[in-house]
Amino acid sequence: MEKTILITGSNGLLGQKLIYNLLERNKKSPDWKIIATSKGENRILEKNGYTYLSLDITNREEVIATFVKYHPDVLINTAAMTNVDACESDRMEAKRLNVDAVKYLIEGINEAAEKNPMVNTHFIQLSTDFIFDGENGPYAEDAKPNPLSYYAETKLKAEELLESTFLKWAILRTIIVYGIVDGMSRSNVVLWAKDSLERKQKINVVDDQFRSPTLAEDLAEGCVLCAERKATGIFHMSGKDQMSILELVYRVADFWKLNKDLITAVKSETIKQPAKRPARTGFIIEKAKRVLGYDPHSFEEGLAILDEQLKK
Ligand SMILES: NC(=O)c1ccc[n+]([C@@H]2O[C@H](COP(=O)([O-])OP(=O)(O)OC[C@H]3O[C@@H](n4cnc5c(N)ncnc54)[C@H](OP(=O)(O)O)[C@@H]3O)[C@@H](O)[C@H]2O)c1
Repeated sequence: MEKTILITGSNGLLGQKLIYNLLERNKKSPDWKIIATSKGENRILEKNGYTYLSLDITNREEVIATFVKYHPDVLINTAAMTNVDACESDRMEAKRLNVDAVKYLIEGINEAAEKNPMVNTHFIQLSTDFIFDGENGPYAEDAKPNPLSYYAETKLKAEELLESTFLKWAILRTIIVYGIVDGMSRSNVVLWAKDSLERKQKINVVDDQFRSPTLAEDLAEGCVLCAERKATGIFHMSGKDQMSILELVYRVADFWKLNKDLITAVKSETIKQPAKRPARTGFIIEKAKRVLGYDPHSFEEGLAILDEQLKK
């Protein structure tokens, strides 16, 4: 039987990849009634095969009315204030979008369930490696969080909100998501490095922060696997390679044969960023592999996929 899946933030990097992933799945077997929602106009080039609703998730009434009307089997909440430094300087907005809106989504699901208890919405929430302090990554799901920035605090608060409900929930934590979609509102480290080096611009890159970059397609696949398998609990979903940001940028330069002399290694403390970043994250992704069949590409395979998309 067809199930309804509602995506928030569908204009974003993960949001768009999710819509395309679900559309591809529906070609093989039409399992999903897809509802894409984001703030403002739809920026996905493909307009067929799903319903688009303009939905600002910080608007409580709108959120509740949408859930009562559509009562989805699955919600994937990708919408968030994702700019870590902006969250530090505009804390009110960060709380509104990353915490209060999650409350409204929970309320929306609860109100919809009062009207029709037969549907038990599976709430899948995206979270981040930044909830950890980076003292001893890579991290497993049960490691102790210790957020260093306000962004991280809000994302952890959202996790706690979900954990305190009686809903069917899953929290998928991820790390530096890279990829390209239509009408992007913000870039990512891979595109930034490639673009800067192509324009022969000198760049400073930190060599004391370690991450496992995640291809947006892999994360979208992981989210859909979680929905299909009705999995609950916390899952770590990143790429499988851990590297410093400097190494990441070198590997981007190597892949596109760009001039590495333009890259200068610097320490985090020398670049003035409003939000503090964890030094070493990275995830142990065995649980997602075992329970969900999550199987991410290597970093270079991910770059090759991105390269194909850029050529189109
Ligand atoms: N990207 C990363 O490196 C990373 C790392 C760790 C965790 N995550 C988490 O993964 C999730 C997805 O990230 P992403 O990279 O796909 O983010 P993204 O590209 O910034 O997408 C977020 C989307 O949410 C939309 N949005 C903003 N305010 C909204 C509102 N009030 N109502 C509805 N939609 C709103 C944005 O719209 P506009 O495009 O119009 O602004 C944007 O399209 C987030 O929860 C993030 O915290 C991301």
